[in-house]
Amino acid sequence: MKAQGLTPDGEQKHAALLSNGAAVNAIAAAVEGTMGPKGLDTMLVDRLGEVVITNAGVTILERMQVTHPAARMLIKVAKAQQDEIGDGTTTVTLMAGTLVAEGISHVVRGVPVARVIEGMRIGIQSAADSLKRRSRPIESLDTPVLERVAYISGREQADIAALVVHAARLIGAEKLSEFSFKLADTIRAEEGVANEVFMGVIVSKGRLNKQMPKIVKDARILVVGDAFEPEGFEAEALATEAGFKKYLELQADFQAHIRKIIDLGVTVCLLDRGMHDLAEEMLTEAGVLVISRVPSHELQKICEHTGARPLKRIGLRRSSEELARYLGEARECFEDESLRQVRFLGGKASPMATVVVGAATAEVIGERERIARDAASSVQAAVRGGYVPGGGAVEMALAKDVEQTRANIKGMAAYGLDCVIAALRRPLAQIVLNAGFNPLEKVEDVAALQLASGSDAIAVNCDTGEVVDMLALGIVDPTLVKLHAIKAAGEIAEAILRIDKIIKMTDIEG
Ligand SMILES: Nc1ncnc2c1ncn2[C@@H]1O[C@H](COP(=O)(O)OP(=O)(O)OP(=O)(O)O)[C@@H](O)[C@H]1O
Ligand SMILES: [Mg+2]
Repeated sequence: MKAQGLTPDGEQKHAALLSNGAAVNAIAAAVEGTMGPKGLDTMLVDRLGEVVITNAGVTILERMQVTHPAARMLIKVAKAQQDEIGDGTTTVTLMAGTLVAEGISHVVRGVPVARVIEGMRIGIQSAADSLKRRSRPIESLDTPVLERVAYISGREQADIAALVVHAARLIGAEKLSEFSFKLADTIRAEEGVANEVFMGVIVSKGRLNKQMPKIVKDARILVVGDAFEPEGFEAEALATEAGFKKYLELQADFQAHIRKIIDLGVTVCLLDRGMHDLAEEMLTEAGVLVISRVPSHELQKICEHTGARPLKRIGLRRSSEELARYLGEARECFEDESLRQVRFLGGKASPMATVVVGAATAEVIGERERIARDAASSVQAAVRGGYVPGGGAVEMALAKDVEQTRANIKGMAAYGLDCVIAALRRPLAQIVLNAGFNPLEKVEDVAALQLASGSDAIAVNCDTGEVVDMLALGIVDPTLVKLHAIKAAGEIAEAILRIDKIIKMTDIEG
């Protein structure tokens, strides 16, 4: 970005700011076309020709090759939005981009950065406060609003929306409001299967061999977070007699451990790594279902669901009474042979759900999963924090609220509030533009009708271009998604505007 009309001195003075502004703009430009119901997909191509097709802002940003530090800062904010709240990454990126661009325009005109930032803070706080006031609560999980939340954030994929809401209802409001529980983590997309929700967890591995049982009822479950083999032994030691003796002892110990496990009544055994032949043979003989090389995040879910505690190999030395305390329980485990998966149902510890999203081909698995995760995050966010009219409507109402706050601000901080007002108008403008209408016209029409009707739900029907009530159309967003986006955009804009110099550090390690 060249600052036109500036003296060479002035240009020098704002060099860091302008460079950062240009980088932030470039990031916003990379995702703006995906915003809203008429947003288009982006095709990402890597050096080897690998292709990812997506509409999710954060996916684009994560994969983009970016070197500029300010651009990286913005990408981090989008990722944080995704991790913490699960949706709204394009919104936060565009609002931050507008805040920075507007802020810079005031600074190059001579408004001190400190005043701009001061005003931005007041504006963001005012917007956040009135957003909370405008939020509508989710009174019960049965409300059809939940389907709408899932449908809108799930890019109008009705089957995914229905699936996710079904899962939310099965799991219940109490669990959904637990801080550490993420509904999005219950989702897995699979090629060529039907959509399904069930209470239980899946391990994406089959039985170790076909002689093992396919179904186990009232399972007693042992989880070994390690390989299942005799304790470490150096092959060279076998050359000596003492070494060989020790080897035989370890073998015998190992055999005794396996016996102990069988005698304890273990019927299912999951391993982080592989299993020694001897153990496989004995456990197969005893009718135990063994699954080896289970990914660690799946082992963790199994433990949470069944109450099993993972043991290291050395832990197998414990007494039977002690070992018994490490076992988990489930009502049923069974293998789905066609998918090479084992399902665990009715674990005795924490209830868990799994949402299986079917995908017709391998190419769309990733995007179907992302969509389902967005929908799940939004449903959970709505249950926790309520909802607001979508389509950029509520942001327009907030812009009006911030204008009122601005009327009472004296001095140059008012310019900071102007930046916030512009940022709040951006979502509607972008959604409208992507739908093929003129944002300049529609933004004014919406502002006028919101004022005349006193409603914060007025925005644009993207199919017809009409200025209408979003709640009547069922277009709603979770309040927390917006709240997080507004606050995060404010924070990152402030951080970027504060940067006065960019100095390259020498690479100490290199
Ligand atoms: N049918 C619709 N009409 C108008 N606005 C809609 C419609 N469906 C969704 N929206 C609006 O689109 C916006 C969300 O767009 P989008 O999902 O592309 O971006 P995001 O949620 O900010 O980012 P991402 O989903 O990429 O993380 C919300 O403001 C939502 O209310
Ligand atoms: Mg979205």
